[in-house]
Amino acid sequence: MKPTLPQPLSKRRFQEMAREPALVSIDGDRRVYHLASGYWVYDEMLSALKNSGWIRFAPGFKAGLYGKAGCQHCIKILGMGVGENPLYFCERGYYLEHERRLLERFRSRGFVFGPKALSTEDSIRLLVDQGGVPARQAELRVTRNDVLIMDFISGVPLAIQTGQYVNYDLEIVGFDRELLAEVLAALQQLHRELDQANGLGLLHNDPMPPNIILSLNDAGELTARLVDFELAQDLSEPSPDYVNNSVAELYSERDVPRNSKTGRHTKNLDQHLLDESIRLVRDLLPIAGQVRSLAEALDGYR
Ligand SMILES: Nc1ncnc2c1ncn2[C@@H]1O[C@H](COP(=O)(O)OP(=O)(O)O)[C@@H](O)[C@H]1O
Ligand SMILES: [Mg+2]
Repeated sequence: MKPTLPQPLSKRRFQEMAREPALVSIDGDRRVYHLASGYWVYDEMLSALKNSGWIRFAPGFKAGLYGKAGCQHCIKILGMGVGENPLYFCERGYYLEHERRLLERFRSRGFVFGPKALSTEDSIRLLVDQGGVPARQAELRVTRNDVLIMDFISGVPLAIQTGQYVNYDLEIVGFDRELLAEVLAALQQLHRELDQANGLGLLHNDPMPPNIILSLNDAGELTARLVDFELAQDLSEPSPDYVNNSVAELYSERDVPRNSKTGRHTKNLDQHLLDESIRLVRDLLPIAGQVRSLAEALDGYR
């Protein structure tokens, strides 16, 4: 007997999901490995957030993202992600301090594909008012940059980070053709905007699938937004050494193509990674149905 497959995700259903997001905890998500369970310095904050209805809804390599039903903001907490050793990133606030500065930098130059970060003051207020975190504790965590509080972008990431070797799971395999065609157009638009930012010396450097969120604009059209500005650079000023070093490593890790004669890269990371996602969606468009049934069939073997 042929198994019945779930319906592919339609544009309409996507719009409903983006307008009324159902936040689902990843704590029991079987796709996710090595999820940090907690860290003693964060205990007071994490238990207050939990008691106030906040849940960890998305994993990153360095951080976990927490959200609350009905709240327009989300909290990125360093060290609460997936990977070999996510706790390594606890109390290394310089990552989020840099990310916040670069998020502001892109916004101040007119680029709104990234989320808007809350000020220090507003971040403390949100932790206290909406998270039930004691004021002293909220102040500590915000001023030490253990947390970054920003707009919650409602939608579906292109992929989710799993913490396994093949380190992400594609979310868009479940999309129908019409929706995939819109994803393609949205990625091409993001590519153009990022090109403009690059032209002003602003580089994101890691627009890979888990860092792209498919969302809706005010007109109800699909848009591609970008998160995770931890390795972004503003070429008009020096970047921290760890950013420069990680960016140099990413050029080889992500296989940015080189000219065979000169050995120089023919694209930057932003162009290369977005081109890759665009190629992936283009390739997926005609075969999404087959990939979906294959994925369903293999699911039992995990
Ligand atoms: N502002 C946001 N709104 C909604 N989801 C977000 C937001 N920022 C991040 N995410 C989700 O959380 C995941 C992890 O965040 P990210 O900033 O990439 O962390 P990391 O630096 O650890 O990789 C992302 O892949 C994305 O799915
Ligand atoms: Mg990320």
